[in-house]
This record gives sequence, C-alpha cells and structure tokens, in this order.
Amino acid sequence: MSDLTPSRLLAADSFRREAAPDLASVRLLVVGDVMLDRYWFGDVSRISPEAPVPVVRIARREERLGGAANVARNAAALGAHTGLLGITGRDEAGDEVEKLLKDGGIHSYMKRDEAISTIIKLRVIGRQQQMVRIDFEDAPTEHVLVEKLDQFKALLPDYDVVILSDYNKGALVNVAEMVRAARAAGKIVLVDPKGDDFSPYTGASILTPNRSELQRVVGGWKTEEQLTEKAQRLRAELGLMALLVTRSEEGMSLYSEKEVLHVHADAREVFDVSGAGDTVIATLAAMLGAGAPLDEALATANRAGGIVVGKLGTATVTREELFPA
Ligand SMILES: Nc1ncnc2c1ncn2[C@@H]1O[C@H](COP(=O)(O)OP(=O)(O)OP(=O)(O)O)[C@@H](O)[C@H]1O
Ligand SMILES: [Mg+2]
Repeated sequence: MSDLTPSRLLAADSFRREAAPDLASVRLLVVGDVMLDRYWFGDVSRISPEAPVPVVRIARREERLGGAANVARNAAALGAHTGLLGITGRDEAGDEVEKLLKDGGIHSYMKRDEAISTIIKLRVIGRQQQMVRIDFEDAPTEHVLVEKLDQFKALLPDYDVVILSDYNKGALVNVAEMVRAARAAGKIVLVDPKGDDFSPYTGASILTPNRSELQRVVGGWKTEEQLTEKAQRLRAELGLMALLVTRSEEGMSLYSEKEVLHVHADAREVFDVSGAGDTVIATLAAMLGAGAPLDEALATANRAGGIVVGKLGTATVTREELFPA
C-alpha cells in the first residue's frame, strides 16, 4: 500500500511569495512541559578541599525559556498572538519564567504548584566546558492538573491553533482529553510527542516526532520504503491528518493520506541544533493557522529550521527573517 503513496520533493525555497502570510492574526495556544534553562559561567582555579572536584566561581548567569515555553517563544517571535499554559512551582525559578514570558510578549496562563519545584536544567560551565548539569524535576500535583485541564477547555474559543509540547514531565498526562476537546472545538492540533506509546495523541491533526522519537514507537527502518510504510501505518492508526518526521541533517518528511512530501535541510552553516524542533513546530502551526496549505507550511517550517540552526543558543526566527521584504 505504501508504495502507492505518491512522493514529492519540495524545493527548499519554493513558495516564496509576494505578500507574507498574516502571522500576526494567528492565535496560538501552547500547552506542555514548561522548563527553565539556566547557565552559570565561571572560572576554575582550584580543587575543592572537601572532595576531589573542581570549584567553579560563578561570574555570569543566563536564563532561557525551555521546553514548551521555548515553543511559545518561537511562536511569539514569528508575530503570532501566543498563549502558554503550563505549570511551575511557586518559587524563584517560577517567577523568572513569568518574567521571561512577559519579555517575550507571551500571554501567560501559568499555574503555580505549591508542592513542586519548577523544572530547571542548570548547567555549570567552567572554562568554556560544561562541568555538570543539575536537573530539578517534580511531577505536578493532581489538583493542579485538573485546574489546568479546565482552563485549557475554557481557553479554546480564544485560540485557532493548539500546540501540545510533550517532554514527558507530567504536564500532559491528560493529553488524550485535550486532543479530543480541541478537535471537537474545530482547532488545528499539533503535537510534539514523547515516549513509547503515541496512542494518547489519537485524533490530533499533526504529530512531529524526530527520528529517534519515531523509532521508539515503530522500530527502526533500513530503507525509505520501509520508513514510508511504518509512518503511514502509524498515521492511519492514530487518525492523523499528517505525520511530520523531522530528520535533522536529512531535512523532513511529511506523510499524509494524499502523498509523501520530502524537503532537504536548508542550513548554510550549522552552529547549534538544540531547539530546532521547537522552531519547526511553531512555524508549521503559525503557517497553518494563517491558512497556508500543508506543503507551503512545511517548506516555510523547514526554512525556519535552517535559519535557527545557524544561530547560537536556543534561538528563534522572526517573521522578517522568514519573509524578507
Ligand atoms: N544538523 C542539521 N543540519 C541541517 N539542518 C538541521 C540539522 N539539525 C536540525 N536541522 C533542521 O531542524 C529541523 C528539526 O531538527 P531535528 O529533527 O533535529 O528536531 P528535534 O530533534 O526535535 O530538535 P530539538 O528536540 O533539539 O528541538 C530539521 O528537520 C532541519 O530542518
Ligand atoms: Mg524535539
């Protein structure tokens, strides 16, 4: 059956058009695991007297939105009206998340959970080298999850497109109900999936696994035909409009009932690939929300991925970079 699906290769710069799509009119709600990325930079000049470990004296700190909050940051950078629903602790890191959301022009619907720590990934970097990464990670409390689900349903009428950004940290334990509610309200639903079972995402519009996320669910593949067959079977099983596999340096492939679309990676120089998937899903969602057809949305998302890997740090792409005047 799979080899009957027609396959099309998109030119990386196809669909450059006269007028840029109206991304500012798109209302995009991001829901998922919100994290804070922390970087502490310093000098190492001695070994600790307490244990055989280096002492890093911190000279500079940096904080960035991570996880679902980075997807929201990317959507806002494109000019979309962006809301973020997630959970942090009632702690200093949670305050920092709120501040960064405000700076990024993101509408915050963050819930504060008294019982947990905000999810933090802290990197200590001495002499340009990462010495250790320290993770703070607690699963949210049941009653906060219930509140969050209620708020999600209440927010649906105000948004056109929903992105569910799952990092398997607990904010999306009731993702199946969220997908059902959003689809019943006629919203486009994109999911960045995690884990070894994608069935809770059944009925979503588009799923965007990377290669290893897909492999975990369908097993490996040796040929392109095999990948097509496995991808199409999964798409049909989950009742998706399309399955988008992001393939790092191989670009991406989109499997729909009608056809398979491939696009080559569009990067001139690659500096930092972390967070490229977040840029891709945000761009795809914004384009679809603006009414672009799937092939054009895909080509634009791929262009955004190519731009963002050329920047250092978990970066974003602006509307002006995507659609230069
Ligand atoms: N090494 C690379 N060279 C060129 N383009 C790349 C590279 N890595 C990523 N990209 C671009 O970014 C897109 C998304 O990357 P990838 O498939 O690695 O997503 P991901 O693993 O979900 O990323 P992350 O989880 O770090 O956000 C690719 O489809 C491609 O367009
Ligand atoms: Mg990813």
